[in-house]
Amino acid sequence: MCGIVGYIGAQQAPPILLEGLSRLEHRGYDSAGLVVRANGRGPRALKVAKRAGRVRDLADGLPKRFAGTAGIGHTRWATHGPANDVNAHPHTDAAQRVAVVHNGIIDNAAALRDKLTADGVELVSDTDTEVIAHLIGQSEADTLEGKVRDALSVIDGTWGLAVLHADFPDRIVVARNGSPLIVGVGDKEMYVASDLAALVRHTTTVAMLDDGELATVTANGFTTFRHDLTATSKAASRVDVDPASYEDATENQWGHASYMHKEMLEQPAAAERMLRGRLDERFGAAHLGGLNMEPREFRAIRRVKILGCGSAYYVGQMGAGLIEDLARIPADAEAASEFRYRNPIIEPDTLYVAVSQSGETIDSLLAVQEIRRKGGRVIGLVNVVGSAIARECDGGIYLHAGPEVAVASTKALTNMFLGFALLAIQLGRVRDLSIADGKRLVTALAALPGQIEQILAKEEEYAEVARTLAEAPSLFFIGRVRGFPVAREGAQKFKEISYRHAEAYQTSELKHGPLALIEPALPTVAIVPADDLTERNVGALHEIAARRGPLVVVTHEGVDLGGVAATRLDVPRSEPELDPILMTLPLQLLAYHAALHLGHDIDKPRNLAKSVTVE
Ligand code: F6R
Repeated sequence: MCGIVGYIGAQQAPPILLEGLSRLEHRGYDSAGLVVRANGRGPRALKVAKRAGRVRDLADGLPKRFAGTAGIGHTRWATHGPANDVNAHPHTDAAQRVAVVHNGIIDNAAALRDKLTADGVELVSDTDTEVIAHLIGQSEADTLEGKVRDALSVIDGTWGLAVLHADFPDRIVVARNGSPLIVGVGDKEMYVASDLAALVRHTTTVAMLDDGELATVTANGFTTFRHDLTATSKAASRVDVDPASYEDATENQWGHASYMHKEMLEQPAAAERMLRGRLDERFGAAHLGGLNMEPREFRAIRRVKILGCGSAYYVGQMGAGLIEDLARIPADAEAASEFRYRNPIIEPDTLYVAVSQSGETIDSLLAVQEIRRKGGRVIGLVNVVGSAIARECDGGIYLHAGPEVAVASTKALTNMFLGFALLAIQLGRVRDLSIADGKRLVTALAALPGQIEQILAKEEEYAEVARTLAEAPSLFFIGRVRGFPVAREGAQKFKEISYRHAEAYQTSELKHGPLALIEPALPTVAIVPADDLTERNVGALHEIAARRGPLVVVTHEGVDLGGVAATRLDVPRSEPELDPILMTLPLQLLAYHAALHLGHDIDKPRNLAKSVTVE
């Protein structure tokens, strides 16, 4: 949420910053800005340009003589104050000698604003960030590091921030506390960013700051230290990422109209990467070395609790089903955003699983910290290598989905499901899952990438259905048991990018209230796999049809819908435990094509941002 980028070296900073910001725009896209240090220390040493709107608006409106070889930039997702030019970052102190860009939330901003106002400081924006600039400006420390330390010592909250100061022209100081901050090492030039996406074009040699850490970044290197200014001596290392995979979808060889489309179509390859080397066909088991757990530790687990937010939470529900089915261990999923507020009971024989694409979602990270604080064991299913959640967990399963840029998560979710399937097999095989059942599932998993491909090949068919659904102001998504989290995820995707009201229900709950809403203007998307609940599900379809509710049914070939008038979308058959993921894919495509039909900005849906790093 929000993006930070910085550069210091011999090149002109503005084009580098603008390019970096455009790569971070999925993190926040309501306003953008940058500041560069011009030559000299004079009163106009810092030049700021910022405005509401997109990075391209900022670039178009940049003054002609906007030059400097050090600078920082920001793309914003508003927390304090509306998206307007004044609230855009960077923020400066009254003397315009300090400029700050900030991700996160300052919890005591209101009190600090009052105090600054009482001191005679005129605050010009509605933001919490502006107070940081004034506090740095007021500090009497001799060094920029000391000034930043002084400011942070009175601030409560979360931050990833970067500071430029007219009186310290050779450096940028950055700090992290709850919001990611990465330093990138170049050749006599250095970069900073809140996300690898803004760095990989320039360097893959990076240092990721830890919470409570700061860094001084000059053209020739960087040093890291704690709030008390003692050194942490962090070294940079190479990250194993393919810079090409971060290239803009609209201008690269894939030729997709959006990242979401590119990422959906990458799912067969991403799933294959996820499964590579992890399936044991001989013993019907899974290899998950990253969990750092012995078989006897697996056997000691009495309960599994999965924590994630949004779509990751819904896949977590699918995962809980897999674990109960295959390992026969009681399992459930809970929204990580609620977890720590109810003073959860942490049990030693419960395995906690945090699931997150970004590995930076603050609600999930804080849930992990709560579990660890209380002595629980937590593993992560995380996509971004080295992210905060991945580092905080006792072990984990990386998702290997590759960078995911579209706000609506697709390929990472598919790989989360696969991660849960592998975990369930692993847990099952040290218990009562027979070798025959293990092999049955391992074989089915190996076939999934090809089946995903078959579903994606039917895109045109889904597009046509989506265009009809897009015309409805409101929709139901229904499913039962394994199908319910599928319905939840389908509704989530639909509302997220089409802005249509979409609500998920358990099919079994329809009669207990929601059926009252069924009428010709309210379509229902129903999940009806070929399983032991098919007959009951078909019964519900009849009840909807009898009330003239239009139906789209995601089902398997050969399922008899009992003559109900419905548009059917057949997916290939797998093992029943794996149906949820195959049935989720058509729903991604329905949401995508509905949004496309409605002319929405698919990668940047209104009010949202990728990776929610504020509470
Ligand atoms: C929906 C979506 C979000 C995320 C949620 C958690 O398409 O992407 O609901 O799933 O914000 O994000 P991560 O997985 O990064 O923790």
